[in-house]
Amino acid sequence: ETETKDYVINDEVIKKIFKVRSEFSHKGTYGKAVIIGGSYGKMGAAVLSTRAALKAGAGLTFTVAPKCGYEILQTSDPEAMFIEGGEDYIESFNVEETAVCGIGPGLGTHENTAKGLLKFLKNYTKPLILDADALNIISQNYESIQLIPEKSIITPHPKEFERLFGKTENSFERTELAKNKSREHQIYIVLKDHHTQIITPEGEVFYNITGNSGLAKGGSGDILTGIITSLLAQQYSEQEAAVLGVWFHGKAAEFAAEKYSKEAMLPSDVINEFGNVFSELN
Ligand code: APR
Ligand code: MG
Repeated sequence: ETETKDYVINDEVIKKIFKVRSEFSHKGTYGKAVIIGGSYGKMGAAVLSTRAALKAGAGLTFTVAPKCGYEILQTSDPEAMFIEGGEDYIESFNVEETAVCGIGPGLGTHENTAKGLLKFLKNYTKPLILDADALNIISQNYESIQLIPEKSIITPHPKEFERLFGKTENSFERTELAKNKSREHQIYIVLKDHHTQIITPEGEVFYNITGNSGLAKGGSGDILTGIITSLLAQQYSEQEAAVLGVWFHGKAAEFAAEKYSKEAMLPSDVINEFGNVFSELN
């Protein structure tokens, strides 16, 4: 057993990570975020993830989505650019090399989507973010986990984690398994839960303490994917993007709960509180 380090993500940790936006900057300074997701009936996930990427500060945000999402996305989020990846589900995952990809929200697991994703991963070497159905596709093709580029960030909820790596008896064992898998595959694992943990390839664990049960609603995870993708596009390191992103997501949820209650707050309300979180950071 190797020695490992555990951290609580407190204000001090966040202060060290957060970078103030420079006055002498342009959209190129803040990178390109690409959300790849959505399928017929699940476009909302792509919308939320895209909007979160926009509002978390990326210079340019694109969405690769199927044609059936064209009007939905261009209407809901005119600041984002649309790239067609198929008809009713995504089949082609073509993206610019310079962009940072967040793949999975609302993606679906159609066999052509799965084929397209695995083909894309075979040729892709830059770190990316994988969530939701992208992880489910990988679970269904176990050897494909080898295709995840090193330093990528995966964001499974407990069920997705179990599908990927198998059952564990309790949360302690789950963390230990995650540490082994992070090291083996050299990826960051964002183990989503009431208290989300970020596990690094070096075996460090960052515990998050922001957030609340108002996040226990469909769409909350899609927002987290958008935030982390956006931060990675903005030149934060993989570890910084994961740690700051998870903290930020929870903090925005705290503002939303104050205003609307945990019951009534929606993921879109959480996005609308990003400004308050940035105000506190700046
Ligand atoms: N306290 C704090 N945070 C919470 C709580 C809680 N009680 N419940 C949930 N969260 C946070 C999690 O930490 C995570 O960041 O909300 C987010 C929930 O993410 P997901 O479980 O991925 O939820 P969701 O967005 O609904 O997923 C939508 O994606 O996982 C797939 O197929 C699944 O249809 C689902 C879709
Ligand atoms: Mg999810």
